[in-house]
Amino acid sequence: MTRDDAPGHVLVVGATGVLRPAAAELARRGHRVSALARRPGPLARLAREWGGAGGAARARARGRGRPGAGGAAAAPPPRPGPPAPGLPELLAAARHAAGPFTGALLYCPDAPAEAVAGLLRAVGTGGPAVLLLTSAWAAPGAGQPPFPAARRLLLGWAAGPGGPRWHTPAEISAGALARFEGPPGDGLLGVVRPWAERPA
Ligand SMILES: NC(=O)c1ccc[n+]([C@@H]2O[C@H](COP(=O)([O-])OP(=O)(O)OC[C@H]3O[C@@H](n4cnc5c(N)ncnc54)[C@H](OP(=O)(O)O)[C@@H]3O)[C@@H](O)[C@H]2O)c1
Repeated sequence: MTRDDAPGHVLVVGATGVLRPAAAELARRGHRVSALARRPGPLARLAREWGGAGGAARARARGRGRPGAGGAAAAPPPRPGPPAPGLPELLAAARHAAGPFTGALLYCPDAPAEAVAGLLRAVGTGGPAVLLLTSAWAAPGAGQPPFPAARRLLLGWAAGPGGPRWHTPAEISAGALARFEGPPGDGLLGVVRPWAERPA
């Protein structure tokens, strides 16, 4: 095993959603994976699943009904109790438990820019940070997508014989892992034109 493909500590936001297959694959390969999400239930299920799969799941919920990486709060109001830790505390705890981050896969389309910036800072020069952007960034007149220093993967749609469709979590995860392991730079999954054919 070379130094470059040695297992490390990968931060995954979206591991309870479209990046679930990617996070599981990283854990299977022996990486320590810290998953960050807003909903504790799916995170707990993920941690149980990874328990026997090699690697270590470090699932960190920000607290019931609270935003994880700074996104909108989920519907139920927070229960009374100790305040949920903030993003810097969660990231510090993950580093304390599993070492410095050696990379990240980030899908958090609703998170404010400062939260995404904090996630990218947490990885710093430790390794590749892949940021998944939704096709809204390719809309006519949308402007330049943010965070040019990250490896940005623009999520388009699949155009096949059956007509345009959104990608599956397996397809999105495979695209994210390819960006993670490939040379630096941005990528596009699928197509974003003609815009009128974007799936509903
Ligand atoms: N271009 C494409 O083809 C494309 C793109 C996207 C999605 N899709 C399809 O659409 C379906 C639903 O997509 P979705 O956008 O709802 O994605 P999703 O991946 O099912 O859900 C979002 C994921 O990101 C996490 N997340 C989001 N914001 C967060 C934040 N602020 N802090 C921490 N974690 C955060 C969520 O966890 P918490 O909610 O617990 O925080 C969850 O794991 C997918 O299953 C996929 O099939 C297709």
